[in-house]
Amino acid sequence: MRQTVIIIGATSDIARATAMELAKQYDLVLVGRNETELEAIASDLSVRSDCQVQTYLFDARNLDTHAELVATWFEEVDTVAGAVVCHGFLPEQTQAQRDWELAHQTLDVNFTSCVALLEPLMDRLESQHESFLAVVSSVAGDRGRQSNYIYGAAKGGLSVYLQGLRNRGTKSGVHVLTVKPGFVATAMTIGLVDPKSPLVAAPEKVARDIVRGIRKRKNVIYSRWFWRYIMLVIRVIPEWIFKRLSL
Ligand SMILES: NC(=O)c1ccc[n+]([C@@H]2O[C@H](COP(=O)([O-])OP(=O)(O)OC[C@H]3O[C@@H](n4cnc5c(N)ncnc54)[C@H](OP(=O)(O)O)[C@@H]3O)[C@@H](O)[C@H]2O)c1
Repeated sequence: MRQTVIIIGATSDIARATAMELAKQYDLVLVGRNETELEAIASDLSVRSDCQVQTYLFDARNLDTHAELVATWFEEVDTVAGAVVCHGFLPEQTQAQRDWELAHQTLDVNFTSCVALLEPLMDRLESQHESFLAVVSSVAGDRGRQSNYIYGAAKGGLSVYLQGLRNRGTKSGVHVLTVKPGFVATAMTIGLVDPKSPLVAAPEKVARDIVRGIRKRKNVIYSRWFWRYIMLVIRVIPEWIFKRLSL
């Protein structure tokens, strides 16, 4: 019998590509805020694979509803193999500096909502044998930069939170994977990156890296792989030099 994977933020380009990979092995619960898109993705997956797909609506900013939603998803399926958390929001940094509502939305979607979801998810998965949580953070969380420090702070907070969650899950067999993409050609980065640049990954490539990371029980993956070394260099630049750079 096939186990089920819950994909949150399922209308994201990275999540769609990941769903396509996971559908080869698992049934899927797709969770997102756009009903029409969710249904379209679900029927596409059903046509292209043998997987059973259910869809649920969720708005990341309705923080008080998350625990109840998690309970509903678990009631509806037999065995949950794990979850992939993929929703995110990238504001225009200078706008977010001036507009608290935009900054608040950035923190809620990229950090607070993930904590509100992952706590009840971890509670449920801990009572099972061998499961996983794969969560999409970002290289932006590795070091604060003036060009995107509000988004970066939310992703940095998420990455630190995931370190602790992984530490907690190890005893009960819940594997926690932190995914740190660099530039990816998705709806989020339209007009910001050149999809043809060698630094920019296709969502399908990131999806394959995520699925490999889950299979190999990796702790932290960078996608593409070379971002690990780019970020290593960025992290070791002394602060007295770093603060003078226009990054
Ligand atoms: N693209 C990159 O270069 C890059 C780099 C590093 C990390 N990431 C991370 O990768 C993940 C996937 O992003 P993507 O690149 O695939 O971009 P995307 O296609 O724009 O996906 C963003 C997703 O977040 C969902 N979302 C935003 N606000 C939400 C809310 N309030 N409630 C529920 N869902 C909400 C969007 O839903 P709708 O479809 O309804 O708008 C969409 O499904 C994100 O966590 C992002 O931060 C991306």
